[in-house]
Amino acid sequence: MLYTSLLRPLLFRLSAEHAHNLTMAQIGMLQSHALGRSILKSFVGSITPSPVQAMGLTFEHPVGLAAGLDKNAEAMEGFFTLGFSHVEIGTLTPRPQPGNPQPRLFRLPADQAIINRMGFNNKGAENAAQRLAMRTSRWKIVGGNIGKNKETPNEQAHEDYVLAMQALHQHVDYFTVNISSPNTPGLRDLQHEAALKFLLETVAKENQRLGSKPLAVKVAPDLTKEEVQNMARLAAEAGFQGIIATNTTIGRSVEKTSADRIAAIGAGGLSGRPLTHKSTEVVSWIKEAVQENLSIIGVGGVFTAQDVIDKRNAGADLVQVYTGFVYQGPGMIKELEPAWKIG
Ligand SMILES: Cc1cc2nc3c(=O)[nH]c(=O)nc-3n(C[C@H](O)[C@H](O)[C@H](O)COP(=O)(O)O)c2cc1C
Repeated sequence: MLYTSLLRPLLFRLSAEHAHNLTMAQIGMLQSHALGRSILKSFVGSITPSPVQAMGLTFEHPVGLAAGLDKNAEAMEGFFTLGFSHVEIGTLTPRPQPGNPQPRLFRLPADQAIINRMGFNNKGAENAAQRLAMRTSRWKIVGGNIGKNKETPNEQAHEDYVLAMQALHQHVDYFTVNISSPNTPGLRDLQHEAALKFLLETVAKENQRLGSKPLAVKVAPDLTKEEVQNMARLAAEAGFQGIIATNTTIGRSVEKTSADRIAAIGAGGLSGRPLTHKSTEVVSWIKEAVQENLSIIGVGGVFTAQDVIDKRNAGADLVQVYTGFVYQGPGMIKELEPAWKIG
């Protein structure tokens, strides 16, 4: 309430990236002392646990923070205090990189959506590892979402995933191989069969060498049913435990934002409300293809408890949020709690 009636209107007067940076700085500040954490906690109160087994791990409840919001693991304590059962950091690349030029993040409030072309701006896997080494007992499950640097050609992409994995391995509880961002040129070509098989097997082999953490792969919503089901089968065959559906879409099926505005924004991935149905459909395709072999993490346009229930009914074991958090604010987990308190 405080967020939607007071804080959000203020934040939405700033550019989207400025508001993001300010929010991260605020959470970063509040998380570092007990009084700050109790202020954060006051947005959610106590959250009823409802343990979920997925990828061989036990999550306190089904809802976590999707990759991209805390790329560099700078506000982990804060997000866990806000009630998320897991936080997926990244996408982290082996070397730091600035991402695309600004502006690269746009709100579409009438559609409860975002378009972004951030382009994996991040401080690098080693930098995040140093921060993760300060993990406290209040942290819950940490996912490490890894990718390749922009200048690395696809033929060498596997080397980047391996390097990022090596840097993070002792600090995260599971890994996500991100091959579905629309903002790194050519990245999504890694979703095609031969390249995918090689990448997943290489990552799985290195993971085994380092000491087997659960592995997930994150897919785009812009694939056909056959392509998605093939990917899911390949992931299971390569020894992966999870699949995350979905990343942002290159589609532009918005209802209220004008065509002029959409054209003026240009390239990027669309997330939020316009993605709700599509990502749930992809979850159901995966469920049909892999049955019990893979845990499914549903992400895309989750705003309400009903959205969580719909994703889980379609086959998701876990659910993640990003855009919903931008619109609903820090009390979001409390608003979603009825999804697991009753169901
Ligand atoms: C600004 C922004 C940055 C994102 N960055 C990443 C990223 O670095 N890696 C990734 O796997 N997904 C990234 N995502 C995608 C989200 O994790 C999520 O899959 C997608 O936004 C759909 O969920 P939502 O509708 O709840 O936002 C990003 C999304 C947004 C809006």
